Amino acid sequence: MCGITACVGGDDAVGGLLTGLGNLEYRGYDSAGIAVPDDRGLNVVKREGRLERLREALGTDRPTGSIGIGHTRWSTHGPPTDENAHPHQDCTGRVAVVHNGIIDNYETLRRGLEERGHRFESETDTEVVPHLIEEELTAGKSTEAAFRAAVDQLSGSYAIACLVDGENEVYAARQGSPLVLGEADGRYFLASDVPAFREFTDRVVYLEDGDIVTVRPDGYDITDLAGAPLAREVDTVDWEPEAAGKSGYPHFMLKEIHEQPESLRQTIHGRIETFAGHVSLEEFDDASFADVERVQFVSMGTSHHASMYAAAQLTARGLTANAYMAGEYADCPAPIDENTLVVAVTQSGETADTMNAVRRARDAGARTLAVTNVVGSSVTRECDESLFIRAGPEIGVAATKTFSSQVVALTLLGERIAEDSTGVQRAEVRDLLSGLGDLPGDVQQVLDETPAAEVAEALYNCDAYFFLGRGPARAVALEGALKFKEISYEHAEGFAASELKHGPLALVTDNTPVFGVITGEEDLKTISNLKEVQARGAPVIVVAPESLEGQVEFADYFLPIPDTHPEVAGVLANIQLQLVSYHAADQLGRPIDKPRNLAKSVTVE
Ligand code: F6R
Repeated sequence: MCGITACVGGDDAVGGLLTGLGNLEYRGYDSAGIAVPDDRGLNVVKREGRLERLREALGTDRPTGSIGIGHTRWSTHGPPTDENAHPHQDCTGRVAVVHNGIIDNYETLRRGLEERGHRFESETDTEVVPHLIEEELTAGKSTEAAFRAAVDQLSGSYAIACLVDGENEVYAARQGSPLVLGEADGRYFLASDVPAFREFTDRVVYLEDGDIVTVRPDGYDITDLAGAPLAREVDTVDWEPEAAGKSGYPHFMLKEIHEQPESLRQTIHGRIETFAGHVSLEEFDDASFADVERVQFVSMGTSHHASMYAAAQLTARGLTANAYMAGEYADCPAPIDENTLVVAVTQSGETADTMNAVRRARDAGARTLAVTNVVGSSVTRECDESLFIRAGPEIGVAATKTFSSQVVALTLLGERIAEDSTGVQRAEVRDLLSGLGDLPGDVQQVLDETPAAEVAEALYNCDAYFFLGRGPARAVALEGALKFKEISYEHAEGFAASELKHGPLALVTDNTPVFGVITGEEDLKTISNLKEVQARGAPVIVVAPESLEGQVEFADYFLPIPDTHPEVAGVLANIQLQLVSYHAADQLGRPIDKPRNLAKSVTVE
């Protein structure tokens, strides 16, 4: 998840771009850059680091042009460096391009371009685009035709904006990544999200996949790839510029919960071949997991719950897998040898307990693999290999979208490990991959139809909250309880459903709501546990696939999720619980994005 923006018209493109990038920093902040043509030529300035570094580099002698493009990056290909920062240019330096998304076929395109004499400066997938445009320009095409011809060669997800030195237009394309157009008086904007230009205008055109837009200082055209004109309505946004950082949401946490269709699309993108029933993780194209005899996950908090989910999946595939709380790993040494794969799961990539576990594993000769959201983070430097979850930056202290992306990335990794180490491709994998492919849409359905706010309103004022589940659903129950306690400050505990009778049942009263997580027919046994607590007066809330509604009619509240593969259902169930926690904390007036005593990145033991 990166942020792109463009500004066309007016007399201060740089000012418009910097405002836009500042408001898009929530989409990425490991590097930023702009391209603005003026009478000195095409000025491209880009820097690794926060936007402030770009401002410093621009200094006071800023380009004076009236059009420009800008980018704020969240690395997916190549670490955060000046070279990998956008905009990217062709060899002649006349074309500049910014991009959000992932170009799946960039390696093939790059090889072809290199064979034809193009030289590349960065490790990004994006850099192929200006080279392709330049090639078409050299072949004699107009800029617009060259842009279309280049876009036609791309597969993957992208929102791209491009300009050419000496010209007065910005060309943009959208496929699978967000792109909106803002219409102000005498000035137009393009951006990944409305906050980029909200302080200049409330008039917005939401572009659609396949749209190509040409923006000039006096107007714009929207067409399809073949050039046929398209009509798109101009909407008016109903939130004020002050809410821009949160895109109009009252809290980052709620915004991040709502970003999950997009973040999950990025996590999955290019990694599943549903028809072939194959997982394709380019990070491990040259690697094999055939020698792996045991998998040990090390992680803390929410990441630990994602690890428990993954360990349960791998165990079900016949592998030896355990999820260790990283802080316990060094103190209670687990058996490690060179056939042990230690997977460090950490969204920040900086958690001290997890880093220590990695060091211990490495010293004992294990193979180490980081699963993280942050390219260039400490964990990626210390582990042998890395897999990025591509969720985009998460500002709210409570982890939400990163949990979902961790579970999905770990599911894909687990499938690949199982395939290599057992030597067989599981027949069931197609259903799982198709469930993952449907997940962004299913998440949207949950977000659109959830009754979570009503459940929270009815129950936010109770003595304690319990969460039950079995198998991967147990990990979701624990995560549901963690989220609930950390942002509401109410007492919440998660248990294995089977554990209930062995102690926790003593805590159950008519003032302790119990949430049951059911992911499919496999864990219907949890129903009998829920009936036990209901018999003791506890309000029961069931999260389950909608087709099971008939079997959970006894529940006081039902949070339905779309029917899907049971291993995918846990992600959907967890989103319902995220929403209940959010609304309960909101009812209680808690400072949701910054819960007391907690930090986003815990770099001390
Ligand atoms: C809970 C939460 C924490 C983190 C934990 C590990 O919402 O965010 O429990 O999950 O501190 O952090 P990372 O994933 O950065 O290692």
